[in-house]
Amino acid sequence: MSNLIELQNISKNYGKDSILSNLSLTVKKGTAVAIVGDSGGGKTTLLSIMGLLQNTTSGKIFIDNLDISSLSQQEQAKIRGNYFGFVFQRARLISSLTALENVMVPAWLTQKDKNLEKRAIELLTHFNLDHRLNHKPGELSLGQLRRVSLARALLLNPPILLADEPTNDLDPALAKSVADCLLEARDRGTSVVIITHDPVLAARTDEVFTLQNRQIYQVQH
Ligand SMILES: Nc1ncnc2c1ncn2[C@@H]1O[C@H](COP(=O)(O)OP(=O)(O)O)[C@@H](O)[C@H]1O
Ligand SMILES: [Mg+2]
Repeated sequence: MSNLIELQNISKNYGKDSILSNLSLTVKKGTAVAIVGDSGGGKTTLLSIMGLLQNTTSGKIFIDNLDISSLSQQEQAKIRGNYFGFVFQRARLISSLTALENVMVPAWLTQKDKNLEKRAIELLTHFNLDHRLNHKPGELSLGQLRRVSLARALLLNPPILLADEPTNDLDPALAKSVADCLLEARDRGTSVVIITHDPVLAARTDEVFTLQNRQIYQVQH
């Protein structure tokens, strides 16, 4: 299987603080990977580096075998838009828009396809939110907000989905429903990288890594 994300000897400092040190990781096409580790250990930083949202201090990133350091900021933004869907720790939905409108935001931004509203409704229906299409974020539960942001991340069918603690603060049934959605994306061919403290979710992925002492190690499971 080919590599979709390849991090080579990545280091990241915030000022004088070293957060990641000489870290290498590959994510293959169509696999689900979990990254666990202590709070404050740099997991969110690592995910944002993978998603080209943040620069590294040193090291190389290849997305689909393309060396990102050879690209301009504009070209990087294009790769980010074409390759990644993000589920952030805080859902970051727009409070004045309905659930359906929030899911449609990537379609409006890219103007890729006029027929995406049908897909947005299908995704929300699939996530058991068909009765909440016209509700605004303030009227939705945490589990529902997570599923709306997951639908938004999947709208453009990205090759890579990056999810930061997607089942955090959810009761077991809701956590399972979000995990089911993530693994289903994997089954449809998306590479999924999940930061999680949830052992049940981690156990369902293909590979588990732990981020410790600024380094990443594979965990047998
Ligand atoms: N933009 C930033 N500037 C400076 N320090 C940061 C920034 N973002 C995160 N940090 C620090 O980097 C460390 C790792 O943070 P983070 O990547 O959020 O870890 P985790 O997601 O594993 O909890 C923490 O000590 C945090 O305070
Ligand atoms: Mg974090």
